[in-house]
Amino acid sequence: MNDSKLSELFPTSTDQIPAEYRIEPIHQREYLLDGEMRPWNGPVSEVYSPVCLPDADGTLQRQLVGSFPVTGPTEAVEALNAAVAAYDNGRGEWPQMSVADRIRCMETFIGKMLEQRTLVINLIMWEIGKNLADATKEFDRTVKYIYDTIDTLKNMDRNSSRFRIEEGIIGQIRRSPLGVVLAMGPFNYPLNETYTTLIPAILMGNTILFKTPKHGSLLHYPLLEAFRTSFPKGVVNSLYGRGANVIPPVMQSGKVNVLTLIGSSRVADELQRQHPKLNRLRSIMSLDAKNAAIILPDADLNIAVQECLLGTLSFNGQRCTAIKIIWAHRSIADKFLAQFSPEVSKLKPGMPWDAKVQITPLPEPTKPQYLADIIADAAAGGASIVNDGGGETTASLFKPAVVYPVKEGMRLYREEQFGPVIPVVVYDDVEEFIDYLITDDHGMQASIFGTDTAAISRLIDPLVNLVSRVNINAQCQRGPDTFPFTGRKDSAEGTLSVEDALRSFSIRSAVATKDTATNKEILNEIVGNHQSTFLSTNFIF
Ligand code: G3H
Repeated sequence: MNDSKLSELFPTSTDQIPAEYRIEPIHQREYLLDGEMRPWNGPVSEVYSPVCLPDADGTLQRQLVGSFPVTGPTEAVEALNAAVAAYDNGRGEWPQMSVADRIRCMETFIGKMLEQRTLVINLIMWEIGKNLADATKEFDRTVKYIYDTIDTLKNMDRNSSRFRIEEGIIGQIRRSPLGVVLAMGPFNYPLNETYTTLIPAILMGNTILFKTPKHGSLLHYPLLEAFRTSFPKGVVNSLYGRGANVIPPVMQSGKVNVLTLIGSSRVADELQRQHPKLNRLRSIMSLDAKNAAIILPDADLNIAVQECLLGTLSFNGQRCTAIKIIWAHRSIADKFLAQFSPEVSKLKPGMPWDAKVQITPLPEPTKPQYLADIIADAAAGGASIVNDGGGETTASLFKPAVVYPVKEGMRLYREEQFGPVIPVVVYDDVEEFIDYLITDDHGMQASIFGTDTAAISRLIDPLVNLVSRVNINAQCQRGPDTFPFTGRKDSAEGTLSVEDALRSFSIRSAVATKDTATNKEILNEIVGNHQSTFLSTNFIF
């Protein structure tokens, strides 16, 4: 359904875009490899923004933001070799560097990253259509994440700066790097979620290949120079191009020690399978999710409505942690929908920089049609859109749709829609909800809305073994970043959080000896003369 009012929300000329948010196309013709910005004269991929302007015929067209290199298998293998050489079987400058010195390099990086803040925030808006407030939050949250990671690492290092004596054995135990890390981030948090794996992986002494996402690639360009000049050569290497071309030679080499991916379980499976020695590969991944919210009969509907609005539609529902299906008890389903649907329709659509805008253009060109298709599928099964204007679309703008009643058999019941469509299911018995979670392929988070403590408790205990976080009277979300971020089944592998990530990208190594006078003398001499970086009682202040 096309809506002429929606088309009026797009600028008709660049003059209508506030000067500070206009952008000159950025044509990236270089990439970071082995400490150099390598020039690129080969094929490129053009980046089109979900922000559209009318062409001469008045048809809305996605605007060109720039282009970036499409490198191939040769460059991918070169990048891999650079990371392997920089790691040098753990003997490279970076894995051998003390934690304190690595932290100093990271602090240098933060300073240089901050210099690019305005440009990166602008690129987040242009490349993926995230609104200004959320794009700003994404940048600032990432910087805070890096500072928190540094503080946590200092604490971990302080705790391991002392020797242990047990059962006649003296030992020192520290976390050491794993090797070469292949990091791939998603389009919805192209900066934050790439960095929440990349930064701890670097800090722990690993060397990195990082592949930028298809949407949200250019915003990494201004930061490549910061990586280049803050870390020794080969520690951070960029990978551009089509995943299907550049990833297989890297994985098939068997030289990747850690795969970290925020993306789909289908891609995760394919990538892991390409590694010739699966037992040597550690995977840290956040994958698919279909987080469900349940509204109990006695829920405070004001809270449920507000939290479900945030949970389902922040960044147009394009969050792995978004609430992607709502279960409302039959006794209050009508009342909930009567309150929820108008609030959904009231959300303000517009361009990312518009004041207080909540619904913004969708970056994936095929998404509006996909959303229309899953709504049509639900309609064929007897559901309908119950909010005013829901499902109206023009070019990349799509007004959120509340679809009710959704049932087993409809695509919306199981598929992760990752967009502004909210399926609502009606239930009579909480067992139906629990059964849904048991039979679902996902297991990230769930939300319970209610006031009866007995009813809430009856859900908490089964739910904590089906998902990894149960939110009470609150939307699903990743933060605070010190909380564990993980999932069961197809939703994740490994755990992320400020501390968990440092652990995920490292392994404990111990140096041990028998408690004899000679051995104690040897240890004292090594430590006293600062002869080893690992065996040391240096304390980071
Ligand atoms: O896309 C998944 C993000 O990690 C979600 O983070 O819950 O803070 O929006 P968030």
